[in-house]
Amino acid sequence: MRILAIESSCDETAAAVVEDQTRILSSVVASQISHAKYGGVVPELASREHLRAVVPVVEQAMAESGSHWTDLDAVAVTAGPGLVGSLLVGIMYAKAISFAQGLPLIAVNHIEGHIHAVLLETAATAAVEYPLLALVVSGGHSHFFAVEEGFRYRLLGKTRDDAAGEAYDKVAKLLGFGYPGGPVIDELAPHGNPRAVRFTPAKMKGNAMDLSFSGLKTAVLRWSQARDLAAEIAARKALLAAHPRPSVEQWLAVTPRETLDLLASFQYSVIGELLSRAGELSDEIGARCLVISGGVAANAGLRRAAAALNLGIPVYFPTRALSTDNAAMIAAAAFPKLMRRDFADLTLTAQANLTLAP
Ligand code: KG4
Ligand code: ZN
Repeated sequence: MRILAIESSCDETAAAVVEDQTRILSSVVASQISHAKYGGVVPELASREHLRAVVPVVEQAMAESGSHWTDLDAVAVTAGPGLVGSLLVGIMYAKAISFAQGLPLIAVNHIEGHIHAVLLETAATAAVEYPLLALVVSGGHSHFFAVEEGFRYRLLGKTRDDAAGEAYDKVAKLLGFGYPGGPVIDELAPHGNPRAVRFTPAKMKGNAMDLSFSGLKTAVLRWSQARDLAAEIAARKALLAAHPRPSVEQWLAVTPRETLDLLASFQYSVIGELLSRAGELSDEIGARCLVISGGVAANAGLRRAAAALNLGIPVYFPTRALSTDNAAMIAAAAFPKLMRRDFADLTLTAQANLTLAP
């Protein structure tokens, strides 16, 4: 069974061909770099770039997989959550392929895709046991789900405000590190002292298992306002203008010790919040394993801390390539739907706020 999947929910145009749920025959990701200078994704620009990229990206994925249209059993596409204009580009193209080639169309929830990114890769080395605790941490989400056998999801907790990746992106923007913020803070954090700045974890009213990152972001803002960072921020912006992707050494040359300490402390606080909540929830549901996925799962500090956690259950991460947005994870999530013949029709449309579980 082969599925072609298309993903265009945010600022990556991606296509992949996956065979039998776990064998990636091709996975092509075109990242949009034009958002870097704006410090975040500009929706209108994103849609236009998806329009330019979607046809060549799908053609490349088909060619690299050695597939002809007749080799495919279905075409899958991300239906939400995400930016409506971006989602629509992938959806329209997937519908056109479905109609023209007579292939069933499968609508996939992007968050379910992130969870399947891990299942796809772990299948080769371990038998995943249920219930599992899934933490999806990306630019748009910081959600905990209980996942039962047969891919039944229950939402256990989520961020009340900013997603973890969003907090990384906002802190990076504030301090002149450009967009996306996660990778650069991840690279610089080991050069600072994680205990230099103490941030107080947010207290949750209502569901105590929810998370909040906006207070942390405000604390970073206050910290920076209390100092004169204008010169170092200007130096970093000049560096970014000259080099789209500066090296660690180049960043270190324009980032004083105190700011490195701030980045390390910020990251330490985010990781602490995520993993302490993961520990509590894993006990609560009797989880047999913990799956961490989404763009922030690429974070080296989070991976190290999770490995040292000693939860008594295995912790699985996707490889870095499958942590951030890609279409292989969308194809993997589509397989159970193909088996159930859970197909969408040509009325399928984008759902910006699509949820995985109430
Ligand atoms: O899953 P993803 O590619 O797109 C969404 O669905 O949002 O996640 C993108 C987010 C961005 O906020 C980015 O800053 C963050 O993931 N990110 C990271 C790292 N790599 C990407 N955050 C922390 N550490 C990283 N290494
Ligand atoms: Zn994502």
